[in-house]
Amino acid sequence: MEVVESISALRAARKGMTGNVGLVPTMGALHAGHQALVEAARAENDHVIATIFVNPTQFGPDEDLETYPRNLSADLDMLREGGVDLVFVPSVAVIYPAGFQTAVIVDQVTRRLEGELRPGHFRGVTTVVAKLFNLTQPTCAYFGQKDAQQVAVLRQMVRDLNFPLQMVVVPTVRETDGLALSSRNVYLKPDEREAARALYRALQAAASLYDAGERDTETLRLEAMDMLNAQELAAVDYVSVLDARTFQPVEGDVDALLIVVLAAKIGRPRLLDNALLPWSLNSRDGLTATLGAGVP
Ligand code: PAJ
Repeated sequence: MEVVESISALRAARKGMTGNVGLVPTMGALHAGHQALVEAARAENDHVIATIFVNPTQFGPDEDLETYPRNLSADLDMLREGGVDLVFVPSVAVIYPAGFQTAVIVDQVTRRLEGELRPGHFRGVTTVVAKLFNLTQPTCAYFGQKDAQQVAVLRQMVRDLNFPLQMVVVPTVRETDGLALSSRNVYLKPDEREAARALYRALQAAASLYDAGERDTETLRLEAMDMLNAQELAAVDYVSVLDARTFQPVEGDVDALLIVVLAAKIGRPRLLDNALLPWSLNSRDGLTATLGAGVP
């Protein structure tokens, strides 16, 4: 496995690759969720490139940029074991040299939820991911369904800017009690860790009601909301039921495939989770069938 820090070394290594290239962009502090992206990329491509870059422009002024967990040697071990060929670990100065002044902005789909609560967050994500796409020129790029709005925003960017690659969405990897793996889970104190199960329970509650035939989006939303609110350590940011394909709100009884997205602060971290309805769609095949196989 080759580890490179400069753009010239990255380009040189990329030039030596023939066939399909899978890209897994990360901010490090890797866990089994990231590992699942690496596994999928390894299984489906001739070469795998991973990137580790804690991207400052996607953190708000009051967010955890300074304390974001960093563990490069453990990360590199995991990537090596996962069969990654090339790891790009740039410094901030390599990605944003003095005089940098360009941004990629996706409009509608960034206005709500995370975009509303974290102004500038998605502008930071799309700009850095566009740069990583240009630098690594992947055939397929792998992202986790855990960050469902990020997936929706990046798919829109790929479509709108004609990036010649396929977006691949990998199902959320969870702890045995359902909590979605996240680098920020390390911030949870024991009682908060227990309380964090409420996010998954809320998704399950909405899914059970959906399975029982309920299609009214507000009823489904309130079912999840009540479950989350019942946990007193959870400060709920939002619970929303959206069209899974467009990420736009839907009202009343609908035929659209739905996604329940929720966010709550539990102790220090904000935790996010989501589920497609029906629950069976939260598999690799289900996600591909719902969201499409990507962009030509
Ligand atoms: P990061 O939070 O490190 O996540 C990297 C990738 O891992 C993302 O695609 C994320 O959705 C996926 N991921 C995280 N937890 C997961 C889980 N439990 N199951 C499945 N996939 C999971 O997302 C980012 O970094 C950044 O915004 C980035 C895209 C790298 C741009 O800076």
